[in-house]
Amino acid sequence: MVGVEAFRITGGKKLMGEIRADGSKNSSLPVFMATLMEKGTYTLKNVPDLKDIKTSIELLVSLGLTVERISEHGYRIINNGLKTLTAEYEIVKKMRASFLAMGAILAYAAKADVSLPGGCNIGLRPVDLHLKGFEALGVKYRIVNGYVEAAAKKGLTGGGVILDMPSVGATENIMMAAAKARGLTVIENAAREPEIEDLADFLNKMGAKIRGAGTSTVIIEGVKKLTPCEHTIISDRIVAETYIVLAALFDGDIIVNGVNREHLNGFLLKLEEMGLKYRITRNSMKILSKLSDLSPVDIVTMPHPGFPTDIQAPMMTLLSLIRGKSEIKETIFENRFMHVAELNRMGAQITVDGDLAKITGVREFSGANVMASDLRAGAALVLAALKARGTSVINRIYHVDRGYERLEKKLKKLGAEIERIKLEL
Ligand code: UD1
Repeated sequence: MVGVEAFRITGGKKLMGEIRADGSKNSSLPVFMATLMEKGTYTLKNVPDLKDIKTSIELLVSLGLTVERISEHGYRIINNGLKTLTAEYEIVKKMRASFLAMGAILAYAAKADVSLPGGCNIGLRPVDLHLKGFEALGVKYRIVNGYVEAAAKKGLTGGGVILDMPSVGATENIMMAAAKARGLTVIENAAREPEIEDLADFLNKMGAKIRGAGTSTVIIEGVKKLTPCEHTIISDRIVAETYIVLAALFDGDIIVNGVNREHLNGFLLKLEEMGLKYRITRNSMKILSKLSDLSPVDIVTMPHPGFPTDIQAPMMTLLSLIRGKSEIKETIFENRFMHVAELNRMGAQITVDGDLAKITGVREFSGANVMASDLRAGAALVLAALKARGTSVINRIYHVDRGYERLEKKLKKLGAEIERIKLEL
């Protein structure tokens, strides 16, 4: 039987207990790619058990690395030299972040041949800024048969890069290439996401000389050689935020662990504006307000430290259950409202005009058959189904599996009625 997996959720159960955000997917992916940069043995800890990690491993292995799982969340990666400098379309098409292999392979060999990733459900997502950055480091490239063929004949040389917009991927890719370029690179208007800081910490442990990661100016003094190291990945702020939204939906009877307050500023500011009271002790967050205490709010998604686009969809589920009118303006991706029609099938009242979603709060959701269009859209639907009256079936949860480790097990532990089922195609 050919089937696609779905969650069947019967909502309206009381959820309580503790839930933990695991290691960050968006930190793990560039760090995995960075192991291409230098021969040797790397140890990575707090890596989440997710489909995108499996895809990264597939890519590393296709390039000649050996990857061993040493614990539930730990890996040993052995780089004995790359057997090819080509990152194949068959793997890159599965996960856009594979394009981060480009900066790492360039750092290794001053040459790389990487498939272009193509578009995805949330938008066009071009890589022009990555390529402009590489050019500033002396790399010449051409696009042949869907691949970027790139080389710096005389080796990579440091240069000045001003990003047209603070792209996370471009900042990471250029940082990796520059770490082993000759001379100084300055990236201006760099993205400031915590994952960029984590990548810089990892590279600096290896002997790179990177300053300013996490600010809009990153300065990289190229070094000749790096030394592989051990690194523990930071916790996933988007997963933590998703679980905080869950806790807010359930009147705070859920404690969220793995919370790093410094990474959640833009998100927490909006929750505070909604009147949410909470306490964070060490890395645990407890919400002290009830859902009915919260007020509507207007949100604009922004690069870090603004309100993250990645939590926009789950936030829409929350705002749908708050009396009054809220708005969300999506400024990062052009097609990131695919969850709206599905939430409306569950009883939400949301209209979309271009990049603006207008949300009128409703009393409750009702269970329905819906479809996850991307990772965070899927999370938004799971949250809605947990609150809905009746049973929902959320199709295409392979999207959710890309970013949330063992979600149904974690939710079951809180008391949710959720099961993974197979739907026949
Ligand atoms: C990363 C995250 C993703 C998050 C996004 C924005 C990873 C693996 N993924 O994606 O979860 O939603 O940041 O916070 O970390 N752009 C260009 N040209 C480029 C590069 C980007 O126009 O060369 C545009 C994109 O289309 C988008 C915006 O810049 O509109 C931001 O994209 P970017 O920050 O690059 O996102 P990703 O690194 O792909």
